[in-house]
Amino acid sequence: MRIDATTRALITGASRGIGLAVARAIAGRGGAVGLLARSDTGPAARELGPRAVALSADVGDREQVRAAAARFIEVAGGLDLVVANAGIAHYGPFLRQDVERIEAMTRVNWLGTVYVVDATLGHLIDRASGHIVIVSSGAGLRAFPWAAGYGATKAAQRGFAEALRHELSGSGVSLTTVFPGEIGTSLHAHEKDAMPDWYHGEEAAASVEKLAAAIVGGVERDRRAVYYPPFVRLLGLNGIAPRVSDAILRRLRGGTAAPRRD
Ligand SMILES: NC(=O)c1ccc[n+]([C@@H]2O[C@H](COP(=O)([O-])OP(=O)(O)OC[C@H]3O[C@@H](n4cnc5c(N)ncnc54)[C@H](OP(=O)(O)O)[C@@H]3O)[C@@H](O)[C@H]2O)c1
Repeated sequence: MRIDATTRALITGASRGIGLAVARAIAGRGGAVGLLARSDTGPAARELGPRAVALSADVGDREQVRAAAARFIEVAGGLDLVVANAGIAHYGPFLRQDVERIEAMTRVNWLGTVYVVDATLGHLIDRASGHIVIVSSGAGLRAFPWAAGYGATKAAQRGFAEALRHELSGSGVSLTTVFPGEIGTSLHAHEKDAMPDWYHGEEAAASVEKLAAAIVGGVERDRRAVYYPPFVRLLGLNGIAPRVSDAILRRLRGGTAAPRRD
């Protein structure tokens, strides 16, 4: 599908970071955007112009997601593109991590994705047209130590998206999964003093605007997946040659990225 002034896109996690950058890219082409987050997206909507709609909802609450999606469809007069992007991260060794944090990541990253797709897919199918974007992570291809809980939620998104893209074959609706590497956003702002050694942080972080442009391009070309930065694709090697991917990661990220040698 083309992203232009006819595009009506609902984007979750659009108060900042990747979601806001995607919204800016779509609004920059004249499209209507629904900015969904828990915090007030009114200021962002005003910045993006009259076709931007502020939507307040917690993606971990199915009813709130349904209500926000219905409101956007009504105000925008339809829906063409859904970007399931909202997410949170809590890093740390599993043994020292509160299970409540894993439950929270599960609710937002994984169930939040299901709720957004559930609330919108019927509309796209009825019109036999549209596109879904699911923002997973490189950690969904190969989870790192201290990201056991986070990586599991991102792998859940990947598995869901892989099956759904095939299920949608012939429906007129398609799906792209996004696998970002380290991107310069506030995802880890609350835990920046307690990050694992393999995390390279801000000096390695890639541009959120370039990722947003890659996502828009991926939708327009109906890509199965978008990897950004492109080397994130290499993490997929883990599925066929885990020892090779461990060796590459030790070289690139140091021994803490793959401390076991078996
Ligand atoms: N940054 C990276 O390096 C990176 C790498 C790989 C994958 N990702 C993925 O990219 C996505 C976006 O992350 P980001 O880096 O842009 O992080 P961010 O800057 O922290 O933005 C996260 C967005 O999600 C929203 N959000 C969080 N919990 C929510 C909830 N319960 N309901 C509705 N919205 C919620 C936040 O808004 P409110 O707090 O206002 O609700 C915010 O708009 C996430 O799924 C993340 O896992 C990021």
